[in-house]
Amino acid sequence: LRTDDPVHYTTQVPFSNPTWIITRYDDAISLLKDKRLLKKTPVTFIEEQFSEDSLQSDWANLFNHMLNTDPPDHSRLRSLVQKAFTPRMVENLRPRIQDIANQLLDQVVKNNQMDLIQDYAFPLPIIVISEILGIPIEDRSQFRHWSNAIIYAFNRPDRRKQIIPEIVNFNHYLKELVAKRQQHLQDDLISALIQSSINSDKLSESEIYPMIFLLIIAGHETTVNLIGNGLFSLLQHPDQCEKLRNYPYYIDTAIEEFLRYMSPVEFATNRWAAEEIHLHGKTIAKNDLVLISLASANRDPTQFPHPNHLDITRQKNEHIAFGKGIHFCLGAPLARLEGQIAIQTLLQRIPQFELSVDRDQLEWQATFLMRGFKSIP
Ligand code: HEM
Repeated sequence: LRTDDPVHYTTQVPFSNPTWIITRYDDAISLLKDKRLLKKTPVTFIEEQFSEDSLQSDWANLFNHMLNTDPPDHSRLRSLVQKAFTPRMVENLRPRIQDIANQLLDQVVKNNQMDLIQDYAFPLPIIVISEILGIPIEDRSQFRHWSNAIIYAFNRPDRRKQIIPEIVNFNHYLKELVAKRQQHLQDDLISALIQSSINSDKLSESEIYPMIFLLIIAGHETTVNLIGNGLFSLLQHPDQCEKLRNYPYYIDTAIEEFLRYMSPVEFATNRWAAEEIHLHGKTIAKNDLVLISLASANRDPTQFPHPNHLDITRQKNEHIAFGKGIHFCLGAPLARLEGQIAIQTLLQRIPQFELSVDRDQLEWQATFLMRGFKSIP
């Protein structure tokens, strides 16, 4: 597609709107910054996707978050959350993330086997995000259950109806939790979101739930895939794995290379044409859906020499795994920190590891937005 049909029309997506797939690096960059593409979801699309009444109101409410808004609303929400989600807060998490990685690996070392996804890449980010938000310990397993159900439903629009009760309960739980924090502020992100203010402008209650929802969705499976895809790439390239074990200071460039080589997010989220756009001889009509493939752009040979080659020391690596423009990933510093600690700690503590099934037996997650395996035994 990238060579022959860089603006590709498709019907192979779970939506009925006319949809275009963008695969070249330069086009991806310019469209991610293009003001003619909007994030605000057309009402007809929400009605079609969430036709069940109860689901529609709960989802529509949770969906009304920053990643689905355009300026000026987006700029306002982003500045308010940015005030709470500071680089210092992220850096302070380092020792705790290290502890979590070690605890998960203690169990692995004991068992002498693991599923890289289920036993390590999956639990680590959900523990981190629930601690950041300040989910009480006694609620964590319930919280994990809901967030897993939501992530699942997010990926499988066709199965959303099955989890209506989970969505409704989760929504109620968040409402109660925010109400409790409003009465007794603590040292956590929910309290920081409640307090965050710029010139006396604050997030309203109805803006806080979708923000928490976004942080869970955006921050979880993406990071699972960074850890899973990164370690999988090392399994496939023993020379690179050896290099990283021997020279751990390559971890920074290695993480950037994993993000480029096997991008955790295959497509940027939905963007809708606010007016007609002409590109490479094609016409994208008003209200058409545009899907920009970050994973394809990150392997574009015009930008990356030897794009299909994994090189953990790659120097010029301006990948767009975290997106580009105003919606650039808010959690990128946290994701990088989690990825570095998870991958480096596993390499330090487990001197040798190998796949226990054939590479061809690994199953991809059933989603077109994310890119990663269901399980890596
Ligand atoms: C946005 C990727 C981890 C929070 C994005 C976008 C991408 C992305 C591509 C932009 C989507 C678009 O423009 O359509 C990733 C990857 C991650 C990761 C690859 C892990 C390796 C995280 C984490 C958090 C987070 C850990 C927070 C806990 C967000 C938020 C946005 C976002 C809030 C929306 C920003 C906005 O609309 O202004 N992420 N993300 N992400 N990400 Fe991440």
